[in-house]
Amino acid sequence: MSAAGNGRRRGVHAIYPGSFDPLTLGHVDVIERAAHIFDRVLVAVVVNPQKREPLFSLDERKRMIAESMRHVDNVEVADFRGLLGHYVKAQRIDVIVKGLRVVSDFESEMSTALMNRSLSEVDTVFLPSDPRYSFVSSSLVKEVFFLGGDIDWCVPVPVLRTLREKRALVRPV
Ligand code: PNS
Repeated sequence: MSAAGNGRRRGVHAIYPGSFDPLTLGHVDVIERAAHIFDRVLVAVVVNPQKREPLFSLDERKRMIAESMRHVDNVEVADFRGLLGHYVKAQRIDVIVKGLRVVSDFESEMSTALMNRSLSEVDTVFLPSDPRYSFVSSSLVKEVFFLGGDIDWCVPVPVLRTLREKRALVRPV
C-alpha cells in the first residue's frame, strides 16, 4: 500500500486514554516514552469514569496534564465520552498506548485491548512502567495525600499544587 493509502504520511498517531484523577509521574513517564516512539500522542481523559465520581473536574484534570506535559511538544490533551473504540476510529488514531505496572494489570488490559481492537481495528501497545512508579496509582496518591503522607515524589508540580488547593478548600488553614 502507498504511503498516502495507509495514512502514514501524517505520522503515527497514538492515544493514551485514562481517568487521570489525577495524573501521576508514572503517567508522565509513559507519555514521555510514547512521545519518543510516535509522532503525536493524544492524552485522552475519559469524561465519566465508570469507577467512581472523580475528585477533579474534567477541566482540572486536563489543565494539570497540559501544564505537566508542556515540555513535550508532540503531546496534546483531549477528552472523550462513550467507547474508546469509537473515539479512536473517529479521530483516525493508529495505536492505543497503555502502561503496565504489575502482572495483574496485564490480565485486565489484555481483554480490554482485544475488545478495543474488535471495535476499532486499532491495536494496543503496552509500555512497562518505570519500576519507581510501579505501585503508584491515582487512588493511592489521593488517599496518602489527604491522610497527610508525602506524595511530592510521585506527582508533577501542577498536580501537587492543585491537591493543596483542594485541601485548603476542605480544611481552611
Ligand atoms: O485510568 P483508567 O481509569 O484505568 O482508564 C480507563 C479507561 C478510561 C482507559 C477505560 O475505562 C476506557 O477506555 N473507558 C471508555 C469506555 C470504554 O471504551 N469501555 C470499554 C473498554 S473495552
